[in-house]
Amino acid sequence: MTERRLIIAIDGPAGAGKSTVARLLAKRLGYLFISTGAMYRAVAWKALNDGITLDNIDRTGRLAAESLIELKGDVDAMRLMIDGRDITEEINTPQVSQAASKVSTISAVRRALVARQQEMGREGGVVMEGRDIGTQVFPKAHVKIYLDATSEARSKRRFSEDAARGITDTTQDQMKAEIEERDYRDISRTDSPLVQAEDAIYIDSSTMTIDEVVEQIMEIIAREKGKDSNQYLQRC
Ligand code: DC
Repeated sequence: MTERRLIIAIDGPAGAGKSTVARLLAKRLGYLFISTGAMYRAVAWKALNDGITLDNIDRTGRLAAESLIELKGDVDAMRLMIDGRDITEEINTPQVSQAASKVSTISAVRRALVARQQEMGREGGVVMEGRDIGTQVFPKAHVKIYLDATSEARSKRRFSEDAARGITDTTQDQMKAEIEERDYRDISRTDSPLVQAEDAIYIDSSTMTIDEVVEQIMEIIAREKGKDSNQYLQRC
């Protein structure tokens, strides 16, 4: 019996550890890793770079539909490309974070990116993380996780990540305020707001290590895969 290649959806607010966890899961499973936040960041980066004001909904929507956004390379060294230009190092600034949160409220942007995400994950064998994967992109994903943490824990993590990258121009309090502002925008937008899918499993990672979160999700995935062999045994 060939093993089903699952679609794993991981949603949750900024800084909950989704990217790191999704990347590690993809590595363990030999699956594709897709950070959909990076795709919204790519649109935001290009709009800023082209001098398009983010309240110009038509132009920003067109930009999302017409740009070629690619996630290339190995899980550990994934590069984000837009129209052939590598912007991996340029998308994690506070300016792009805020702009990404704004462009993600534009329905035309969401339509263009969701269609591409569905195409990328269509064959299964994918760990996709974002805000609306279990609700909009793959409502029938085999495993849905809602990964959460307090805003204190999330800002602390993002602050340490930035420090490790040499970004030291934001204090932890500013980081917390920024995260809370983005949370508010992600939760209150009318198109596909951040919400836990009814059938998603809730994990609060505030006091957990990344490895603990990964192990817990691997157990959930193993149970889902186990359904295959149970169904197989019942048929024998
Ligand atoms: O995960 P991230 O911080 O890189 O995401 C950047 C922004 O993109 C975030 O503020 C919300 C938005 N986003 C979204 O609306 N839907 C997704 N599936 C992923 C990200």
